[in-house]
Amino acid sequence: MYDAQQHNILNKLLDRYQKQPPQLNVEVFRDFNTRLSANFGIITELYQSLYGHRNDHPKYFLELIDVLFKAFQQRHPSLRNQDKSREKDPHWLLNQKWVGMMLYPEHFAKDLSGFSEKLDYLQELGVNWVHLMPLLMSPSNESDGGYAVSDYRKVDPKFGSMAQIRTLAKKFRDRDMLLTLDLVLNHTSDEHEWAKKAKKGDKQYQDYYYIFPDRQIPDQFETSMPEIFPVSAPGNFTYVESLEKWVMTVFHQYQWDLNYRNPQVLCEMIDVLLFLANQGVDLLRLDAPAFLWKEMGTSCQNLPKAHQILKLMKRCAEVVAPGVKFIAEAIVAPLEIMKYFGEHPDDHECEIAYHAPLMALIWEAIATGEARLLNKVIQNLPQKPWGTTWINYARCHDDIGLGFDDIYIYELGLDAKLHRAYILDYYTGKFEGSPAKGAPFMFNPKNGDARISGTLASLSGLETALKSKSKQAIEDAIKKITLVHSIIMSFGGLPLIYSGDEIGLLNDYSYLKDPAKAYDNRWMHRPMMDWKAAEKRKKDRAVEKQIFSALQKLIAIRKESPEWADHNNTTLSYCENKHIFTYLRWNELGRKTLVMANFHSSVQYIKKDILYRHGFDMDRGVVDKFSGKAPTYLKELVAFQPFQFYWITNKKHYTPMVKGRKRPKSKK
Ligand code: GLC
Repeated sequence: MYDAQQHNILNKLLDRYQKQPPQLNVEVFRDFNTRLSANFGIITELYQSLYGHRNDHPKYFLELIDVLFKAFQQRHPSLRNQDKSREKDPHWLLNQKWVGMMLYPEHFAKDLSGFSEKLDYLQELGVNWVHLMPLLMSPSNESDGGYAVSDYRKVDPKFGSMAQIRTLAKKFRDRDMLLTLDLVLNHTSDEHEWAKKAKKGDKQYQDYYYIFPDRQIPDQFETSMPEIFPVSAPGNFTYVESLEKWVMTVFHQYQWDLNYRNPQVLCEMIDVLLFLANQGVDLLRLDAPAFLWKEMGTSCQNLPKAHQILKLMKRCAEVVAPGVKFIAEAIVAPLEIMKYFGEHPDDHECEIAYHAPLMALIWEAIATGEARLLNKVIQNLPQKPWGTTWINYARCHDDIGLGFDDIYIYELGLDAKLHRAYILDYYTGKFEGSPAKGAPFMFNPKNGDARISGTLASLSGLETALKSKSKQAIEDAIKKITLVHSIIMSFGGLPLIYSGDEIGLLNDYSYLKDPAKAYDNRWMHRPMMDWKAAEKRKKDRAVEKQIFSALQKLIAIRKESPEWADHNNTTLSYCENKHIFTYLRWNELGRKTLVMANFHSSVQYIKKDILYRHGFDMDRGVVDKFSGKAPTYLKELVAFQPFQFYWITNKKHYTPMVKGRKRPKSKK
């Protein structure tokens, strides 16, 4: 829309930038010009809605646009080219070829040089996207695993340097791999330069945070703000002796919440965002975006202004680095998560979000042996906007929260409180007979709530099974691990594996000896990569080999299944057996896979009719892509072994695999 005043400002800025050294060549400048012009109206509007009431807003607005131009000037030509090619292919992110792994650099390979040497291992598995967990400067004692950043522009020397990140990003581009880094937006470490200045009494930097002289305002906030770490870091404010003031610290005491009501904070953080984008990062994981805006009398989570900040950030990134996509780490109620994709067709916010409901419900299904709740909650989730995608994961470095709505539990005729208590007990050693070995995280005695810690393997029963040396129990645990991986590989979205889960690493209890970690049992599921165990992936009959090769095969099949590119083409399917979860993946070219997964530990059946209903070519036959065989039929029924899944496709679309790779098609 034409707005004379706005366009006047825009033209003046563009005239100035065009002459600003180092001068960009005409074609490159034209890209900036086009993108800024296209986004200027919406950037202005979003900015006004956040800061329009302040007298100083025009000044900071111009500073923000200068930040964009500076970052564009600094963007490496190879990244600018990549931006352009990604703009031409809006489907690039949705492709089924992407398979991710998240890892702590020091747990995986000590540092960045060590990591670079392990790329072949990742590629052997089929991983081509890596989320390198926090590696920026953070305090050496307590840092919440690096999520308390003290310098956004410096890599912690124990891992390497920013130059190494750039080299790694280049290596990734050469290998067609994607790199993700965290951007911790909500808070800094109390050792960040801004916090240090604030502690020294610098008013300008005190305004970067929420700082109060006494408990009056904090107490009012506390009445409606939930606690994130009620056991290890109760409350949302910390008294800072040197300041003799209270600072808002929603997470840990040493993580100071940034005050986005201050336009300077926004400008600084967009500068940081573009700086990281310019290192060659493909996907930025925006840490804890739900918390960006605080409003007294609310939960201070998921507020509309938090979304406006994200939208503004997105538009700024689209001007400078449109090839860089945002991951919203919003682990909140399912319907709230959806909002991070943007609520209206013209909203640009985050292209990717964690499918926390799917993750939690997979665990619920394992604990109950039923897929009813999983089915119900997913069915009630609205369709996400086209072009966005989920991260599907079995678990991550954080705890597992049962963040689905009670209403669906009640609709199944169950008591929500008891049901949740059962799941917690099942995973935390309180339910006799459960093979799962996890621990409650942040148990809140006031309401009985807790989340769950544990590795995929330990929660699936492998730790208990290995201890008991029961062959059957080991087999069941491996089947469960593979079942969980089969869902995250085939459900619409991008699968993300936690490092070590590919060889079934168990809980690591050594964190208890480190006082900086002992209070946080999430460390039990962040084990050091065990390279000796990884070697066993080559040893026949080893547990590691069974888990690794199954996952390797799942990944290889995923990459060969064009109908698994995420075009909102996952359709839940009706199935009369409550233990079995079924969905269809399809594309317009007639390719389809019916996923059918048995969550129960006994043999189950469903009517074969499901294959006819989905229009499979029963005359020529169907095949399970995973086993390479037809499903097992018992007359008019399909039979499932305990924890078995099928990936059914038409025979004509199937080519068998050899060692995870496709056998070349015969000439016939
Ligand atoms: C995110 C991280 C989590 C961290 C928190 C605070 O949720 O995943 O590990 O504790 O943010 O930064």
